[in-house]
Amino acid sequence: MEPVSANVRKRLICGNWKMNHTHFEAVKTIQDMMASLSDEELMRVDVVVHPPFTDLRSVQTVLETERFGVFLGAQHCYFEEKGAFTGEISPMMLSKLSVSYVIVGHSERRQLFGQSDEIVRKTLLSVAGSGMTPILCVGETLLDRESSQQNDIVCSQVEKAFNKVSSSIVSKMAIAYEPIWAIGTGKTATKEDASEMALVIRDKVEQIQGREVADSLRILYGGSVNEDNCLSFLRDVNIDGLLVGGASLDGKKFSAIVKKAQK
Ligand code: PGA
Repeated sequence: MEPVSANVRKRLICGNWKMNHTHFEAVKTIQDMMASLSDEELMRVDVVVHPPFTDLRSVQTVLETERFGVFLGAQHCYFEEKGAFTGEISPMMLSKLSVSYVIVGHSERRQLFGQSDEIVRKTLLSVAGSGMTPILCVGETLLDRESSQQNDIVCSQVEKAFNKVSSSIVSKMAIAYEPIWAIGTGKTATKEDASEMALVIRDKVEQIQGREVADSLRILYGGSVNEDNCLSFLRDVNIDGLLVGGASLDGKKFSAIVKKAQK
């Protein structure tokens, strides 16, 4: 498939805070972003912060009272609407807090908490059903890459996640390619590997959902992205944005990445 110009897709920069920041620290991080980013900068790029559940209400309040144009995101949820699921949070609860984006199937959820492909698929449907945008995470282990299985592994994750999911949902979604060996390790994929995988993913989506859907979906790279290396990924025509972990915890550093993502 010919590479499609990334110009037609607005860039998406997401900050995944993981299990970091109390609600006090969360507010301070947003204030640091407010001091660094202008309205114009936030018009040109979609920016999302994904705080822990306990911070969502405080961050929502600051974003709304200050009319700061950053979207609120969540890191996870369970697919059921309500019920006896101790410790879980439903998509409906998140949407009532004005959450717009939800990370689904992050490798830490898959590896540490046993999230299966089928749960990922159900969660994706449920998140979209509540009017939010799922960000599906896919990625291979180091062993998969060393045995040249990365394309098969990632394609299989995409195929299972999108099984019986309508094209209207998929076209509005984002997929984050995050090689597991690059997350939190300081090692990034090469720009070439990330670019090639973005193409492989878009090809796979085209096979399942058709060209138009594949062209509108945004594909992000994630894994040890920071202020210094982000441009090499952003300049690539196949990559539409970034999922940033560690480097999103500091509002100023995260804003520096957002500034570099301006087209
Ligand atoms: P990292 O995390 O940027 O700290 O590697 C990325 C992620 O897991 O989303």
